[in-house]
Amino acid sequence: MNLQNLPSSLLQELFEFLRFPSVSANPSYAEQTRACARWLCNKFKSLGLESNLWETTGYPVVVARNSPDPSKPTVLIYGHYDVQPPEPLDAWHNPPFEPVLRDDRVYARGASDNKGQLFAHIAGLELLLRNSNALPTNILFLIEGEEEIGSCSLPAFLNQHQRQLACDVVIVSDSGMVAHGFPTLAYSLRGITALECFVKGPSHDLHSGVYGGAVHNPIAAAARLIASLHHPDGRVAIQGFYDRVRPLEAWERGAVKNLPIVEDDIRIQTGAPSLFGEPGFNAIERIGSRPTAEVNGIGGGYQGPGTKTVIPSEAFFKLTFRLVPDQDADEILTLAEEHLRAHCPPGVVLTIQRGHSGNWFFSNPNAPYATAAREALREVFGQEVALLREGGSIPILSEIQKIFGVECLLLALASPDCNAHAPNENFPLENLQRGITLHQTLLRRIASVFPTLRGSQPSPSAEQRARSTC
Ligand code: BES
Ligand code: ZN
Repeated sequence: MNLQNLPSSLLQELFEFLRFPSVSANPSYAEQTRACARWLCNKFKSLGLESNLWETTGYPVVVARNSPDPSKPTVLIYGHYDVQPPEPLDAWHNPPFEPVLRDDRVYARGASDNKGQLFAHIAGLELLLRNSNALPTNILFLIEGEEEIGSCSLPAFLNQHQRQLACDVVIVSDSGMVAHGFPTLAYSLRGITALECFVKGPSHDLHSGVYGGAVHNPIAAAARLIASLHHPDGRVAIQGFYDRVRPLEAWERGAVKNLPIVEDDIRIQTGAPSLFGEPGFNAIERIGSRPTAEVNGIGGGYQGPGTKTVIPSEAFFKLTFRLVPDQDADEILTLAEEHLRAHCPPGVVLTIQRGHSGNWFFSNPNAPYATAAREALREVFGQEVALLREGGSIPILSEIQKIFGVECLLLALASPDCNAHAPNENFPLENLQRGITLHQTLLRRIASVFPTLRGSQPSPSAEQRARSTC
């Protein structure tokens, strides 16, 4: 298949999917987010799958499957239909929920993260079903609507429906290729944990002339607290922060050297004047394998035009920490809280609120299905496969790994310049096409590994396990 013969109906359907403003973070989009889940559920039904919307304590989960054959492995494809907020709107060249095709890329919020990548698997399956009467594997889709806000409802849902969701391997395409056109298998993701801090000073806003010098300015106190988080060279200054960090193994450092990018590519991608971060590691290593403390937002005082001579009554800032093997989210939150309280200047009151947490993910890129996935990637892209520790987080993945005890494979379909979470997010048609082919090649390769695996283990297939316990 080449760009010219991608069925235009597929593209129209991807556009329909992208038109839903399924922004999970903003409750004012709740109705459209639910409508997006219904659309997806109906799409799976139109492919002849048994498809259901399962309610959770938050947004519904879409679960769809073919009629399973117990002699075949069950491949669970995880993805998410929710997207990040589209702001700042004026930086977009087209409205974020009115997709357009420009220079062979689809531009819209969610184009890469995650609707486009997910849609490549759906379209791959659709074309497979159109051209053959039997699939090489059983197929099970699990698509959630809360990934971008920490997948809060999903762990309970998975535990509750563990048997119905039994599978032999999990496939996820929700990550980035190391360079455009270079097949990438991510074997690790960072975890994440969030804090929100409120710094309260005087009981109400004050005239800074009348009271300036008499009280502590909450914004200045917040700035001190934020500054206390790092040493000037970029290392995180929280005591004990690095204690559990698993060092990179020699083969991992070798894998970084073999990547088809150099450190300066990261500077170019970011547009920053120069790179900065923890000494002793290059930027690629820092992104994938080192933990960070980030300030994601700060507020307080006057934000309008001109000046306003005010001492605000309060300020706030939002922090997230990216975590790596073997850090523990709760422990890091406790250390961070202790640090912030110890560094809180006098004259203000600090309140800390804990946010969502998601564990890091680590897997063996040489395990049997990972090896099959690397062969599929090499076959489809015609290039050596890059092995990568990714800096982003998919909070539920380590839970899925734990609950189902199966291999989880991260096959990237987004490009480095996809602008995920930013204005002008995009997905190249070429990636859609590769993703469609990858889906088909992958199922075939997984099917061929399965009998060997089953031969070496006395355990039955996921399908047989699910049936025998029902
Ligand atoms: N697709 C991303 C995660 C990702 C990005 C993995 C790049 C690998 C490379 C996912 O949708 C995402 O953005 N996750 C959030 C999770 C958070 C909001 C809890 C993230 O990483 O910020
Ligand atoms: Zn995302």
